Amino acid sequence: MRIGNFEINGGAALAPMAGVADRAFREICIEFGAAYVVTEMVSSKGLTMHDKKSGLLMQLGESERPAAVQIFGCDPDTMAQAAKQAAETGHGKGNSVCPGKGHSVRHP
Ligand SMILES: Cc1cc2nc3c(=O)[nH]c(=O)nc-3n(C[C@H](O)[C@H](O)[C@H](O)COP(=O)(O)O)c2cc1C
Repeated sequence: MRIGNFEINGGAALAPMAGVADRAFREICIEFGAAYVVTEMVSSKGLTMHDKKSGLLMQLGESERPAAVQIFGCDPDTMAQAAKQAAETGHGKGNSVCPGKGHSVRHP
């Protein structure tokens, strides 16, 4: 599957699941062959206000690639800023795309 300039290999991926898809769960899914994983919901407002808890929710482990950061919000500017933050923080730099409403994907 291709999303923008991402090549996703494999047929099964971890669905976005708030309250379930924490870092440990995502790492287990990658270990068992998930094509990509998605974080729990992260508040765009929380991210732009540098809320510590929001930042932790989108923190990715080294093995979690490819991964998408799931952000939510109602203000387009805040969402854009949060998507930029999601792409820039963590491990190295990456590009962000928005394949669906409220979702941001980060490069492996
Ligand atoms: C516990 C739980 C939490 C979920 N959280 C989210 C979420 O945060 N964001 C989202 O877009 N969908 C969420 N979903 C929906 C799932 O990602 C998925 O779309 C849904 O379970 C249907 O998938 P299925 O047809 O494979 O069962 C959640 C589903 C469950 C069961």
